[in-house]
Amino acid sequence: THAVVKDVLAGKYSTGSQITVKGWIRTRRDSKAGISFLAVHDGSCFDAVQAVAPSDLANYENEIKRLTTACSVIVTGTVARSEGQGQAFEIQAQDVTVVGWVENPDTYPMAPKRHSMEYLREQAHLRARTNVMGAVTRVRHCLAQAVHRFFHEQGYYWISTPIITGSDTEGAGEMFRVSTLDLENLPRTAQGKVDYSQDFFGKETYLTVSGQLNGETYACAMSKIYTFGPTFRAENSNTSRHLAEFWMIEPEVAFAELKDIAQLAEDMLKYVCKAVLTERADDMAFFAERIDPTAVTRLQQLVDSSFVRMDYTDAIEILKTCGKTFQYPVEWGVDLQSEHERYLAEEHVGAPIIMQNYPKDIKAFYMRLNDDGKTVAAMDVLAPGIGEIIGGSQREERLEHFDKRLDEMGLNKEDYSWYRDLRRYGTVPHSGFGLGFERLVSYVTGVGNVRDVIAFPRTPGNADF
Ligand code: 4AD
Ligand code: MG
Repeated sequence: THAVVKDVLAGKYSTGSQITVKGWIRTRRDSKAGISFLAVHDGSCFDAVQAVAPSDLANYENEIKRLTTACSVIVTGTVARSEGQGQAFEIQAQDVTVVGWVENPDTYPMAPKRHSMEYLREQAHLRARTNVMGAVTRVRHCLAQAVHRFFHEQGYYWISTPIITGSDTEGAGEMFRVSTLDLENLPRTAQGKVDYSQDFFGKETYLTVSGQLNGETYACAMSKIYTFGPTFRAENSNTSRHLAEFWMIEPEVAFAELKDIAQLAEDMLKYVCKAVLTERADDMAFFAERIDPTAVTRLQQLVDSSFVRMDYTDAIEILKTCGKTFQYPVEWGVDLQSEHERYLAEEHVGAPIIMQNYPKDIKAFYMRLNDDGKTVAAMDVLAPGIGEIIGGSQREERLEHFDKRLDEMGLNKEDYSWYRDLRRYGTVPHSGFGLGFERLVSYVTGVGNVRDVIAFPRTPGNADF
């Protein structure tokens, strides 16, 4: 039987059973008595399994004793109780077949020592083999599965919204253009402007920044939907929490107000954190040991806590009177910077905060105006260590208010005709939010830079691999 390492270590095979494990050497150690201990990993769990290779194997001297980190091998042997501390089971090897050698082991870029995250990023094709990226990959997978499970169990439908779009959902102008026009010979209108009517779609198109507007159309028919897909932002932000290409989860709910999706955000975050604590205890123990000592306790606290709700207006008061000097001073009306979000979540509350009711002028055009006429029913979830991980709102479902807002912002009604139709035909209060998936993985693992929780990060000046 081809066994995976996880099952061998978990005792799925009784001692004496004959199995085959396929994987890569993590380390090799030789004993004086003429035995080699091979740590073999295959990605199925954090740990490697120990294969004990005795010197009477035919290829012991000329192959097994030359194995180095990352050589690929097929080990066949019998399962045995392990006498060393650590693991309960090991493999007594009867055959070790070397599938692939590592040329020049001395210069192998992923030699088994601690590398900086910056160095690993330059080797994105090889970093998948490291302990840290293996752990990140498994936790990320666990979180994605838990997200789907959570929404499925609650009766949500997963909607696939388009990647190529004509609309700028966030209205921030941070879009990558999608075009098949010949850049060296652009067609021009009589006024000298680029003639996009000659482009592939007959108009200007972009990579989507959010699936929300399309998602709303389905929420206003199916009641509860979510998206889970890639989104793109051409914002020139070189920070530890911004990517040009990131994954977003966007639930949208009909007949729901701000308080309902605030509760949904809290329930969802607790559900997925709980899943990681139970399903990926091995990887979380590694993060707690190597990356962030509070990794496990922090998640447990989140699961056990109730998130604090705070109004933007109260947050500004707190920031103004806390006696701390910020790089960006605060007054009512400014957008909260990461330093403010982190102060509130880390020092003032010490747990995630749901910040609500922001000034309308710093938020997107689609958010629902509150009765005070100056704030909108918006909410952000601010997490310790990272700041905003979720942004959402109740949507403006009243056509006359929506049109007034478009006018105020100098936006064109015709450009939003299909979106306005939702307000013309059976409109309904509805709300939703977007969770940045890499920010969630970063928060959960304690890996401080979103570039290190996605396989191949896209950032300004970097689209290698
Ligand atoms: O706050 P944002 O811009 O909200 C929206 O896009 C709404 N349409 C969501 C909705 O209501 N359906 O983005 C949502 C989240 C942020 O809270 C953040 O976690 C993440 O997406 N995000 C980024 N993550 C990585 N890199 C970037 N450049 C990000 N920009 C936003
Ligand atoms: Mg936001």
